[in-house]
Amino acid sequence: MDKIGLNEIREAYLSFFESKGHLRLPSFSLVPKNDKGLLIINAGMAPLKPYFTGLQVPPNTRITTCQKCVRTGDIENVGKTSRHGTFFEMLGNFSFGDYFKEEVIPWAWEFITEILKLPKDKLYVTIYLDDDEAFKIWTEKAGVDPKRIFRLGKEDNFWEIGKGPCGPCSEIHFDRGQGVITTVDEFVKAADEDRVVEFWNLVFTQFDKDEDGNYNRLPKPNIDTGMGLERIAGIMQDKYSIFEVDTIKKILDEVCKISKKVYGESKSDDISIRIITDHIRSTTFMISDDILPSNEGRGYVLRRLLRRASRHGKLLGIEGNFLGRLCDVVIENSFKAYPELKDKGNYIKKVIRLEEERFAETIDSGMAILNEYILDIKNTKSNILSGEKAFRLYDTYGFPLELTEEILEDKGISIDIDEFNKEMQQQRERARAAREELSYMGVNNGILDKIPSKIKTEFDGYNNLELVSKVELLISKEQFVKELSEGDSGILITEKTPFYSEMGGQIGDRGIISGDDFEGIVTDCKKNISNKIIHIVEIKNGTVKLNEKITLKVDKDIRNRVSKNHTATHMLQKALRIVLGEHVHQSGSFVDDERLRFDFTHFAPVSEDELKKVEFLVNENVMETFNVETKVMTLEEARESGATALFDDKYGEAVRVVSVGDFSKELCGGTHVNNSGEIGLFKIVSESGVAAGIRRIEAVTALKALKNIDEKIELIKTIEKDLKCSEKDILNKISIITNEVREKEKEINKLKSKLASGSEDDIIKSIKNVKGIKFAAMELKDVDSNSLRDLADKTRGKIGEGVVVLGSSIDGKVQLIAMATKGAVSRGVNCGKIIKEIAAICGGGGGGRPDMAQAGGKNPEKLGEAITKVESIMEKLVK
Ligand code: ALA
Repeated sequence: MDKIGLNEIREAYLSFFESKGHLRLPSFSLVPKNDKGLLIINAGMAPLKPYFTGLQVPPNTRITTCQKCVRTGDIENVGKTSRHGTFFEMLGNFSFGDYFKEEVIPWAWEFITEILKLPKDKLYVTIYLDDDEAFKIWTEKAGVDPKRIFRLGKEDNFWEIGKGPCGPCSEIHFDRGQGVITTVDEFVKAADEDRVVEFWNLVFTQFDKDEDGNYNRLPKPNIDTGMGLERIAGIMQDKYSIFEVDTIKKILDEVCKISKKVYGESKSDDISIRIITDHIRSTTFMISDDILPSNEGRGYVLRRLLRRASRHGKLLGIEGNFLGRLCDVVIENSFKAYPELKDKGNYIKKVIRLEEERFAETIDSGMAILNEYILDIKNTKSNILSGEKAFRLYDTYGFPLELTEEILEDKGISIDIDEFNKEMQQQRERARAAREELSYMGVNNGILDKIPSKIKTEFDGYNNLELVSKVELLISKEQFVKELSEGDSGILITEKTPFYSEMGGQIGDRGIISGDDFEGIVTDCKKNISNKIIHIVEIKNGTVKLNEKITLKVDKDIRNRVSKNHTATHMLQKALRIVLGEHVHQSGSFVDDERLRFDFTHFAPVSEDELKKVEFLVNENVMETFNVETKVMTLEEARESGATALFDDKYGEAVRVVSVGDFSKELCGGTHVNNSGEIGLFKIVSESGVAAGIRRIEAVTALKALKNIDEKIELIKTIEKDLKCSEKDILNKISIITNEVREKEKEINKLKSKLASGSEDDIIKSIKNVKGIKFAAMELKDVDSNSLRDLADKTRGKIGEGVVVLGSSIDGKVQLIAMATKGAVSRGVNCGKIIKEIAAICGGGGGGRPDMAQAGGKNPEKLGEAITKVESIMEKLVK
């Protein structure tokens, strides 16, 4: 057996299956499409589910892929062992109703013994308990020694994840030990001890498991196989640990270089080194598939992995950010098989750096808080951290729950998860309440998923807004029906349609339908999960029947407005890439007949100046009156032509490339204008942030853009009228007014203090005497606290030994101050006590020193009473 590299094994596998009539497809994105049950792609077959169930027709009945996968179920073991990882590549060959066991078993054997040249005396096979058929093929067709085949139960040899395609399976194992294994018990023990490693799983997919757990037989049996690329590479390279496989070792070496550690010297350092090595692989790939760190779903998985890696970097003593540097090695290792890594290299690094920085800002304070919690827990001799505290760490300091758990694990402390979940739930509910629930299609998707795949619905509406076609299917109230009558709402499907169905951010067409005996409106047009175009209709009069030929007519005005906005969106993307840089990628868009919304990756607000440039660039090219052309080509041709590809996987299919002159070229299935000039005018109306690293621009075109400008002009006219000046004098006038206001404010302040000093004489006049100590207590109006203090200070200087107590009602509140001379204090006067008592009367609180105290209060109407009270307080205090 030859020692071959991981990249070479991948190639050998894919070309072997190409030679057996398979179509090689590139890996699908890690983000599942139309699969609500799955967060991240975790097996080679996961993106192919619709082909297995028959919901979609595959581009070929035999497919082979090397699929990037992420699994985080075992994350706590990652780092601790040399086998576990969150990222792996899965080699697979798939049959969709084509070949079955008879072919796949001999091929598998041929590949491993003749191409990889694994020694037969090191291989064992397991089959499902009663799968005699597989046994026969293994022994008779592949020539495997029957003694090397063991039968195992459902746990091991029946493959399923959640609902979906599944079936009995057969696994191939490599034995690293010495001597022959003769019984199934010996085999199970050897597998438990890692002497035997499973590396290839052949699944005979013959069932589709439904939500209720029923195994429904598929119309035709399929094949799904999965071989762990890292595992087979470990076997081929005679390495026990996946971290010593050629490509992965390069990452590990870089971690050691940056941390100045030697792998294998310390158990705890090795754990950290392996964690970082693994996590940088999964995160680099996730970001290349447009996942961004966040607190939900996939984004949370990514955040968790990045933050865990970052913390282990700290544990190794690495200072500053380092993860961005590491992802270069990942990219270098794998970009040939995954070109998106190189295409988005700078972007990936930026996302990682940003997340690392964000975490660095809070990790120290978070750790300090957590250490306090730990001390508290130790002091109370408990071993549980409250869920509320764990949630605070999560919410305020960005500590993923699992990270806190991991840190506490070493200290023998666990978290009250139920309470944490409760806090989380409450937060979600708050967020949900703030969001509007969106309804999807207005009907239960269950029935839509059941639309038979033999029904074809063809879109013929790029150059055509009206056609006649046959009604193939009608749905009303979650049921297939034969007709829809006046007043009914439902779903109508025709063989052909000029209606564009909502897709790629563009809304569905609206319009009318009619026949000999009915008229109706199309309120929306969408696609179901298997890409059938469905019209959502309301019947206005008469009855539409199944199989009837009807006329479908798209609303031309709406379509035109939408098309203008859609072409403008392409031009906006191009302009943004010119002005801001190539890191700008679309991360969502919405186009309707009113406006366009474009979300894209960028790390700072777009400045006024940049926005102006972008807008100008779009308008300049609108006015070039460029022809808009669409061409259909293969994905590879599109890439080569330099088209901006969006993230949707369309492998094996023809793609449509839309170009606006030589200004913009983009993969797109949407509708567009024929000439950029039709857009007329493009106007940006807002720029904002939607998430970390994602900005949003909203814009309008054509008459809407004109309206936007008109509104601004109207505003200027209103200002002219209000200011009673002409347009050119507006700025001048505003500056005059602002100056005037400023002068007036100054004057008011002056008057106020004059008013206050006028009160000085009154205060002096109001002096009374308590047991030889003078005091003045007075109620004032509209004197703020600063002036009040000045006034008290001045009058205190004038009365000899004594006390001044002043109260002012201002802006609906009360301000109080008391000041006493030294002599008065020595006789028992205490301003703090005076203020405390009178502030309480005015509904406030406060206090201070014996010679000076201040307070506020809420009830100005009580101020008089409070001031009157001063005399009796004085009597109590003065000795
Ligand atoms: N789908 C099978 C697995 O993931 C091949 O093991």
